[in-house]
Amino acid sequence: MSTSPKRRIADPTGPTSNSPKRQCMSEDEKAEEIPFTTPNAAPDSQIDHKAAIAYWSSTEPTVNGVLGGYPQVSRIDLQGSSNFLAKLRRYSKHFPPGKKLHRAVDCGAGVGRITAGFLCKVAERVDIVEPVKSFTDQIKGIDNVGDIYNVGLEEWHPEKEGLGPYDLIWNQWCVGQLTDAHFVEYLKRLPKVLNTGGWIVVKENLSNHHLGYDVFDETDSSVARTDVKFRNLFDNAGLKLDKR
Ligand SMILES: C[S@@+](CC[C@H](N)C(=O)[O-])C[C@H]1O[C@@H](n2cnc3c(N)ncnc32)[C@H](O)[C@@H]1O
Repeated sequence: MSTSPKRRIADPTGPTSNSPKRQCMSEDEKAEEIPFTTPNAAPDSQIDHKAAIAYWSSTEPTVNGVLGGYPQVSRIDLQGSSNFLAKLRRYSKHFPPGKKLHRAVDCGAGVGRITAGFLCKVAERVDIVEPVKSFTDQIKGIDNVGDIYNVGLEEWHPEKEGLGPYDLIWNQWCVGQLTDAHFVEYLKRLPKVLNTGGWIVVKENLSNHHLGYDVFDETDSSVARTDVKFRNLFDNAGLKLDKR
């Protein structure tokens, strides 16, 4: 991990004084840099699962609630996801277009927005992993929903329970709730329940911090990661990035 951005952001000394960035900085730029000094704790170390669950449990169990007051994003998001899967399937030997997938799982599913609006249309059965019960109570009536697991992904061990195999494991707007270590351990478990030729999809917002740091959000106790960080974590989990 010594080359990972996480280590770099955990370095309390910040960028080294002989870094090229420092050498070519003007006095004004140095002054501006002060509020953005390197965080003295890795952003993911600030994640508090209890606080996160308390936040989500007090959120209205609706699409508006899980999308933070931006329900209008949902339609275009679902369309984008559907296009993305279609692209994956176009080049797939195992799951070419034309037939429904056998089994998918919606991880961090919220109120089943993605399940109802997308996954149930492309898979015969969709299992649900979501820690907040008031959210999963909204999912029960949706057609094609299989088992519902009311746990966080860090506690979900599908390989031990002999679940799957899944053709599609969908993770959206929820893996920021996991620490880097939990996320890697979770990813490592997934190939054991993934069908040959199946996909693990991770659809998340990226941090665009100007110094390339992950960013902690205290509202829901989550982190937004950089693209580089995601690639490192996939690599650490032994996964190959297929399509971006
Ligand atoms: C922004 S919402 C997204 C919900 C859904 N994926 C969607 O796009 O509609 C984040 C979800 O992550 C869930 N969550 C919180 N902590 C989690 C954890 N440790 N593991 C899995 N999901 C978690 C929340 O309860 C919430 O449903």
